Amino acid sequence: TSTGGSIRQELTSLFGASISSTFPDAGVQPSVAQTNDPKFGDYQCNNAMALFAKCKGKEGAPKNPRAVAEAIVAGLPASDLVESTTLAGPGFINVRLSRAWLGRHVGDMLVSGIGSWAPRGQARKRVVVDFSSPNVAKEMHVGHLRSTILGDCLCRTLEYCGADVLRLNHIGDWGTQFGMLIQYIADKRPGGLSAAEDEDVADLQVLYRAAKARFDADEGFKAAAREAVTQLQGGRPEYLEVWRRICAASRAEFQRIYDRLGVELQERGESFYNPRLQATVDALVEQGVAVESDGARCVFFEGRDVPLIVQKRDGGFGYASTDMAALHQRLTEERADWIVYLTDAGQAGHFEMIFAAGRRAGYFPKDREVRIDHVGFGLVMGEDGKKFKSRSGDTVRLVELLDEAKARCRTTIKERRPDISEEELEEATSAMGYGAVKYADLKNNRLTNYRFSYNEMLSMQGDTAVYLLYAHARIAAILRKSGKDVAELAKSTKITLGNDLEVALALHVSRFSEAVEEMLTDLYPNRLTSYLYDLSGVFNQYYTECQVIGTEEEDSRLLLCEATAVVMRQCFHLLGITPLYRI
Ligand code: ARG
Repeated sequence: TSTGGSIRQELTSLFGASISSTFPDAGVQPSVAQTNDPKFGDYQCNNAMALFAKCKGKEGAPKNPRAVAEAIVAGLPASDLVESTTLAGPGFINVRLSRAWLGRHVGDMLVSGIGSWAPRGQARKRVVVDFSSPNVAKEMHVGHLRSTILGDCLCRTLEYCGADVLRLNHIGDWGTQFGMLIQYIADKRPGGLSAAEDEDVADLQVLYRAAKARFDADEGFKAAAREAVTQLQGGRPEYLEVWRRICAASRAEFQRIYDRLGVELQERGESFYNPRLQATVDALVEQGVAVESDGARCVFFEGRDVPLIVQKRDGGFGYASTDMAALHQRLTEERADWIVYLTDAGQAGHFEMIFAAGRRAGYFPKDREVRIDHVGFGLVMGEDGKKFKSRSGDTVRLVELLDEAKARCRTTIKERRPDISEEELEEATSAMGYGAVKYADLKNNRLTNYRFSYNEMLSMQGDTAVYLLYAHARIAAILRKSGKDVAELAKSTKITLGNDLEVALALHVSRFSEAVEEMLTDLYPNRLTSYLYDLSGVFNQYYTECQVIGTEEEDSRLLLCEATAVVMRQCFHLLGITPLYRI
């Protein structure tokens, strides 16, 4: 049986072996896909047509694609996974899996754990994921929430697949906003900037708004604020002190959100790269990658009007300078094999330029293949389809948003279980409330804008976390009702797939690995959510028609229920959702 990886992957190797022995010079990659209609078997190999086109006209070549398909089938190595193959159409090869093998495959997973189904393609790779990354003293808004949720899901998936993941929070802690804040505080406190008078730092959003209003209205203040940034970046001690206190206050606020969501992040803000900026830029200039333009230092790209500005006219550094230094550090010191950035889709152009400049400057190593992705996402809109804001018109504070989702779940759960203990209620509302917010975000194609609606995300029907958490709890209830220790049972009992519904369920359960692989191909978490939602549908069909408890097949069917629950929980885990066993 299998040692990690998906069924599709195993079939791909089998067909690959056949193709490379039957058509050694064709240079064709084997391609195997799931079939959606059981009429055509469980998987399909589509290589015959392309292979035929390649060898047409040559000595002894097959007469038509069907003959190519026949040759591929004849060359398939023996395996206990394939029960039979049939040909369809011009040369499609349909594969029917052995039912005995499939039952064993699921049973083995129950014994060795879901880790045995993790795709191995990313194992031991060093992956840097740059996500969340709010800006100090500015508000952490729903866009950052989206980056946090999507990024955490990708990290969890990569970790499951055995990658060595560095979760980096590239906090905006060094920008021009600090000049404004520090100058504002300094004006208010002519006696000095001591920590004892830091009440203003306690509510950074209020402080930021007040300072920004002054900045926009008062030219003298604007100039003073610019000077303050220069002094801060030049290392003026009392300014650095206030800066540290502002960052600490901000950090505590961000951490409250991360704790609630159960997201782990390592802070490595923009300031970390400050000591490297000048050298980074000088090197770019020396290599001729960056050139002087209007007193600034810029990298130009063909077909783009705006360059990447790596050093401003006044000698200051900005967002792009930091990202160049960060890219270099991640490729060299961190030895990343893969770097992923999560920000709104509006920054796609910025990252394209950063990656291209990095290539031109020779940042990418020659001794290993590096993958680099900007994972963009759309905006979060209000229920009315307009900009997302609170009833009073302000930006929504994330803590309040999460509280609201929780509060709404409380009523629903209490209605269904009036006798629930306060402790259990708290657990259930957190799981459901936060789960609902995360799931609603992840289930949408990340590139589209999505409408944030409590009513929709908390619905018990349809594609929501609430529905799925109930579905899981229902399976847990079946297992409890059996009174059996199902984990023990798995060691002694075979899963027998006696009818089509059982086969369909076992097959869908097994396709979990493929859902994970697909998600990692192009980094769309909605592939995993739709897999999970389909799984609960397939399970429902099975359960409506196959009685479990009190039948002759009880043990085997209980194991299928258990496998479904295990896979659902692993999906929840990858999505960052806490499963519930009883609601
Ligand atoms: N702080 C930025 C923002 O709020 C996101 C940073 C993303 N990461 C990066 N390396 N540029 O838009």
